[in-house]
Amino acid sequence: MAIETLKLGLIGAGRIGRLHAEHVQRRMKDAQIAVITDAVPAAAAACAKDFGIPETAPDFRAILARKEIHGVVVCSPTDTHTQIIEEAAAAGKHVFCEKPIDADLARIDRALAAVRQAGVILQVGFNRRFDANFQRVRRAIVSGEIGTPHQIHVISRDPGPPPIEYVRRSGGLFMDMTIHDFDMVRFLAGDEVVEVYATGGVRVDPAIGEAGDIDTAVILLKFQGGATGMIENCRKAVYGYDQRVEVLGSAGAIRIDNNYPNTAVVSTRDHVRRDLPLNFFMERYVESYLEEVRLFLEAIRTGAPSPLSGEEGRVPVQIAQAATRSLRENRPVALSEIK
Ligand SMILES: NC(=O)c1ccc[n+]([C@@H]2O[C@H](COP(=O)([O-])OP(=O)(O)OC[C@H]3O[C@@H](n4cnc5c(N)ncnc54)[C@H](O)[C@@H]3O)[C@@H](O)[C@H]2O)c1
Repeated sequence: MAIETLKLGLIGAGRIGRLHAEHVQRRMKDAQIAVITDAVPAAAAACAKDFGIPETAPDFRAILARKEIHGVVVCSPTDTHTQIIEEAAAAGKHVFCEKPIDADLARIDRALAAVRQAGVILQVGFNRRFDANFQRVRRAIVSGEIGTPHQIHVISRDPGPPPIEYVRRSGGLFMDMTIHDFDMVRFLAGDEVVEVYATGGVRVDPAIGEAGDIDTAVILLKFQGGATGMIENCRKAVYGYDQRVEVLGSAGAIRIDNNYPNTAVVSTRDHVRRDLPLNFFMERYVESYLEEVRLFLEAIRTGAPSPLSGEEGRVPVQIAQAATRSLRENRPVALSEIK
């Protein structure tokens, strides 16, 4: 019998958890977050109140124990993900898990084995694949509109760094931020990265350096088919969220620019200017976050394969590890070196 309303549990009521809560509760008509938990009970309670979630639970296990829950949306910190995925799979719950799955490949492999054994859906939250701009670039490559890709250039800069506690727990710039771009270059190229050279430093906030991380980086990539790629990252761009891509192919190029809150251009005697780009991921990628969760729900309903599987989610972690080693050892690192 068809399920009328899919019931979800939300684990983690921080920045991204609140965003998914708002989307499911306000914009999805055939799904509901029935219960929410957070390590900080007041955060779960506030999210429940703000978005009409009927119940809070003391921890994720209390959610997994509930029979009526079809799936969980995992928005807790990265280092909690694999444990939750394994236990959710064992409890027969489908899992939407925020990126990255984990920073450790052995832990990811254990979680993916649990998912396979249980036969549940695991979808990883690389939302940018579902953004209209990136989809258009992908179409230009798949259809041959710009020929065979030669160079892929991604500019990905945040308007400002996250809190330092977040940085400490994030797994580092490559694992936390560039991970989206590693996924994106594979998605766009339709090809595998075989070598990585990364360089970077601390330019934005010394506290990030003290936490053992960098905040500014350039990463060069070689693909199996011979194309090259370059990713530029910075935790701070004073003009806002900078999300651009250009791909050069044998028959042409395609470029996507930032999204703006409006199209107004102000011209005066002194200058021609426009408003700043949409400020951060919550504004810039709204539609993609909606679309990825919509596809997750559809996969649960129809039994279709995951729109972005755990195996796909594992590869960017391997690339991030190669980048981390490249930075540390100041040399290009082959993906084959990362087991
Ligand atoms: N797809 C994206 O664009 C995107 C954007 C931001 C964050 N993320 C990912 O989402 C995850 C969360 O990031 P965030 O920015 O929302 O972090 P955040 O720190 O704002 O929120 C995390 C929340 O999880 C809670 N928490 C900690 N341990 C928990 C546990 N064991 N069980 C339940 N709750 C727990 C914390 O109290 C906090 O409220 C990270 O993996 C991050 O990489 C993805």
